[in-house]
This record gives sequence, structure tokens and C-alpha cells, in this order.
Amino acid sequence: MKVLVIGGGGREHAICAALKKSPKVKELHCAPGNGGISEIAVCHDVKAVDIDGVVKLAREIRADYVFVAPDDPLTLGMVDALEAAGIAAFGPRANAAIIEGSKVFSKSFMKRHGIPTAAYETFSEAEGAISYIKSQNSYPVVIKCDGLALGKGVIIAQNFAEAEEAVNSILLGGKFGASGKEIVVEEFLSGVEATVLAFTDGKTIAAMPASVDHKRAFDNDEGLNTGGMGVICPAPYYTAEIAEECMKNIFEPTIRGLAQEDRAFKGCLYFGLMLTANGVKVIEYNCRFGDPETQAVLPLLETDLFEIMTAVIDERLAGLSIKWSSKHSACVVMASGGYPEKYETGFEITGLSDVNGAIIYYAGTKLDGGTFLTAGGRVLGITALGETLDEALGIAYRETAKINFKGAFYRKDIGATCKTPRG
Ligand code: AMP
Ligand code: GLY
Repeated sequence: MKVLVIGGGGREHAICAALKKSPKVKELHCAPGNGGISEIAVCHDVKAVDIDGVVKLAREIRADYVFVAPDDPLTLGMVDALEAAGIAAFGPRANAAIIEGSKVFSKSFMKRHGIPTAAYETFSEAEGAISYIKSQNSYPVVIKCDGLALGKGVIIAQNFAEAEEAVNSILLGGKFGASGKEIVVEEFLSGVEATVLAFTDGKTIAAMPASVDHKRAFDNDEGLNTGGMGVICPAPYYTAEIAEECMKNIFEPTIRGLAQEDRAFKGCLYFGLMLTANGVKVIEYNCRFGDPETQAVLPLLETDLFEIMTAVIDERLAGLSIKWSSKHSACVVMASGGYPEKYETGFEITGLSDVNGAIIYYAGTKLDGGTFLTAGGRVLGITALGETLDEALGIAYRETAKINFKGAFYRKDIGATCKTPRG
């Protein structure tokens, strides 16, 4: 079988590596891919958001399956376009991907189906939003853009002045363009976070082990929000009891609700969860695998990812038993100095061949005549497995220390605050 993966980050490298292991995958392609992915898949210079370009490429290379990994092509309808062209694709159609594409939709969806989430109101006028915030008089308060905003559309305002400034910059100043035409103002939730990725064919849902991303740029959760600076899996505080609560109150009602609304979701559904004193609540849905969560979760997958992908597409997930390693994994992300704001690229990455006992997932990298150069904000994800979380973290940090490039930085405290059980 010939499989084409869409995307070009560390997540796509981890997906390609998992598919590559399948005896059924004879040819692996990726668009656009990156320097690291080019070592295991044929990379094509077609952008992940170029729907016509991807359909044309899939036809040219006669792909049997296309695996669409990132959010933008999914929300833009890439799976719909591939299906219309008669090409089997993994990922939700646009009418289901809206669960990530519009926070106004996802919040009202949760309300309709009684799925626990933060209390909220939506606004398209600044005046209404500001008087609501005043009347609530509770801080911090969370302000979210309706649409996709590269992970930057969530503002946690500590006081009225910050909230007012956020509302005005989005609704009056057009800070996030069309993504910020409407906003959600919601209650701030306290607790610990976990990500649960789940395979679903629209009828059956199979949760993967829970993971913990670290979104802030620097140690002790300081600095700006990023795409994610490191992950551990499984999340130590996500007990079997909590997993059961989530399945009953969140995962199953989500799949059922989407199907009832004629938006059956096929692909990987991402649940961003807050474990609060009043039960687990949904912070956000994403319509895809998480990045970097995937780099810590997929190395624990023992079942063939190609088999799971085809079972999801053919709606046979109920008949498949998915096996996971009982090991722990830890992924440390190395980023370019300045990320998530301005950073320089084009620096040589050294020490890669000294790495031993860890997996290197390449993100913003370029292969230049045999030399890897930096080409993005998040450059590498270094993942290690261990019998314990401490062992996995120990190996990941030992190996990360061997790699270098100008301006490189990474968090030194991945997993450090996750080790004790909740409560
Ligand atoms: P999101 O883009 O929705 O994942 O939000 C980014 C981050 O903001 C989340 O990972 C949380 O840490 C935080 N966040 C979002 N919504 C809330 C909320 N209602 N209460 C507390 N923290 C939140
Ligand atoms: N790591 C967060 C995300 O993929 O959205």
C-alpha cells in the first residue's frame, strides 16, 4: 500500500515512523515533510493547506490512503475533497473538524449535549463582552477567539484592565482577523491538565493513554504559550477511575452528539481536559493528533497504525483490539532561541549521530547536503521510553544534552510537576 501523510512537523514524523513499521506499507510519502521525514518517506513540495495540490499529488503517486494530520487542511475540507476524488483519507470531514475550527460551535455543542466544560458566553460586540466581564467580576477570566489562531487565541486575563484590552484588541482591533470576529468569554478552571487522544470511526471510540503537554516556553510554566515544549505519557494522575468518568461523561457523549448532528467524526479526536475538584471538564477539542503529544504517545503503540487507520476509515474500529506498551515515555522539545516569537533559522544542528537510546523526531529542520539545519521554531523532539517516568525522563535529558545548535533552548522540568497522584 502507498500512504501519503500531510504535514511537516514532529507529529508527522512520529506518524510516518509508526506507519513505516507496518508490513503493509510499501511506499510512504509526505507533503511537505521536513529534513528528518525525508529519511523515511518521499517528501513532496506541496503545502499542507493546498487542497487542490494534495488531491493532484495523491492522484499522481496513486496513493491508496492519505493521512491528513494538521488542523487547517482538515477544517478547510481536505478530507472531503480527497473523498470526492475517490481517495480514502484518514481525518474528519470539515463538518466534524469544526469542533476545533470554531470555539463558539464547540462550546454550544457541549452545552447541547451536557458535556462538562467551563461556563461561558459568546460575543461579537466588545460592549456586551465588557459588561458581561464586569458583571461576573471574577478573575482570572479566559477570553478565546472563535477560530484557529496558531495556538495564540486564548488570553487568560488576570484583572479587568487585561480583559478589556484583550476584548478590544480582538473585537475592535482585529488582532486575529476573521478568527476573532466572535469570542468566547469563559470561567477560569483550576486543576491539572491532561490530553487524551482517541481513535474514532464515528461510532466507536478508543482512547489512547493520557499525556501531559507543557505549553509555556520556560521552566515553572513561565514565558509565553507555545505549541508545546515537552510531553510525558501516561499522565500519572489520570487514574482508571478518571478514565472511566471521562469515557462516560465526555468521550462517548461527544461521539454520539456529533453523529446525532450528522457530523460523524472519523480520525483522531483530541480532548484537552482539566481535572478539577468538581470533576473533569473539557478545555478544548482538537480535530487531530496533538503536537508534541503524538511524539510521546505513538512510541507506546504496539498495534500497527496502518491497521488502525484503515479500521477507522472503514468503520470497523469496534472489531479491533488496540495494544499499548506498559512503559512510560518522555519527549523533550528543543526550540530556536526566541520561539514562540521571532527567531532565526539556518543553524547547523550538531550531535545528532551521538544520540543513543532515544528517538529523534524532526520538526523545523532542513537537510542541506547531508547536514541538518534549523528551519522552524520547534526544531526537534527527543523521546525516550523507560520502565518508570523517571527513567524515561533521565534518558531523554541525557540524550538531549548531546544535541546543539545556535540559540537552542529546552525546558529542564518536563514531567517534574506531574509525578504525584492528584489529591
Ligand atoms: P487552548 O488553546 O484552548 O488549548 O488553551 C490554551 C491553554 O490555556 C490551555 O492548555 C489551558 O492551559 C489554558 N486554558 C484554556 N481555557 C482555560 C480555562 N477555562 N481555564 C483555565 N485555563 C484555561
Ligand atoms: N499540543 C497542543 C496541540 O497540539 O494543540
